[in-house]
Amino acid sequence: MREWSFYMPTKVHFGERVLKREAGVIAVYGKNAFVVTGKSSSKRNSSLDDLLDILKELDLKVHIFDEVEENPTFSLVENAAEECRRVGADVVIGVGGGSPLDTAKAVAILAVNESLKPEELYDSSNYSHALPIIAVPTTAGTGSEVTQYSVLTSHEGRKGGFASPLNFPKHAFVDPRYTLTMPHELTTATAVDALSHAMEGILSSHSTPLSDTLAQKAVELIHEYLPRTLDESDNLEFRSKLMLASTLAGMVIAQTSTTVIHAMGYHLTTFKGLKHGTANGLIMVETLKHIRKFAPEVVEKALGPFESEEKLGEFLERVGIYGTDVTATEKELASWADVVLKASHVKRTPGIFTKNDIITIYARSLKQG
Ligand SMILES: [Fe+2]
Repeated sequence: MREWSFYMPTKVHFGERVLKREAGVIAVYGKNAFVVTGKSSSKRNSSLDDLLDILKELDLKVHIFDEVEENPTFSLVENAAEECRRVGADVVIGVGGGSPLDTAKAVAILAVNESLKPEELYDSSNYSHALPIIAVPTTAGTGSEVTQYSVLTSHEGRKGGFASPLNFPKHAFVDPRYTLTMPHELTTATAVDALSHAMEGILSSHSTPLSDTLAQKAVELIHEYLPRTLDESDNLEFRSKLMLASTLAGMVIAQTSTTVIHAMGYHLTTFKGLKHGTANGLIMVETLKHIRKFAPEVVEKALGPFESEEKLGEFLERVGIYGTDVTATEKELASWADVVLKASHVKRTPGIFTKNDIITIYARSLKQG
């Protein structure tokens, strides 16, 4: 029997209006909060107002950095960290989807390690302290509120995640109400990201009995509630099921990391502008078919209620994942495959992946340019 461990130090507070009820704990981290968010979404869904109200009640000084865009870059996190340092913040609060949360994590480290460059975050032996992080997710997909990962885009335009135990938020305030205003496309893209976290967690060679239990529940919830949420987008009960799935799937990848699906998906985001979850969704079916040749049992387990790659494909079609036509040239596919093969994700994925296999999976999933 293989030994395993499970580490997830974030205290999760889940439920309607949970910030108002539980956020008093933020005060223990200091008197000066640095809030990291995007330009519009956290304002539209009232999460930012809820947070500012509670911080005012707690008598905290607040600085808002609201310039985060999708796929945060090294220069963005550098600018935010400089501002955070300048105002002397004691705690960093990320509000929004994966991008603000991942930015908050990088800022929490960079702000207190003045000479550290964003590229040096990728070697966690370069730093040993960070400001405490609080996470308020407003999408149901990334799971970043319960992980040690932050995904950034380098100066060269390459998307890659760094991991550090310092990245785990101290508290995550998870209120499904904030996802009610998400449009269909974002609901689908984020839910399919969570689905890929859960399935990849089962596929990963780092999976454990506990992470599998959480992952299987997350797959079941998305299978049942993503279509229902798309039919009835203002149903808070359905939204809360997707939010739970996303948080569970985040806890899964905190143990297992992601696999070749994420490594391949990153190129479709960086070079073709696809949303992260949509990118993973596009290549999921063909990747599973390839893994099945080597490890059919684990593919069956990952598919769970979807039963087969064909039925998963029908589900992804129904929720709109294949709505965007993506074309890529052979040259592009070959250069992406070279990068994918160097990623540690491949080692965690069952089966053998040659350069030609990666190119074939891309080619079957996309249109040829
Ligand atoms: Fe992801």
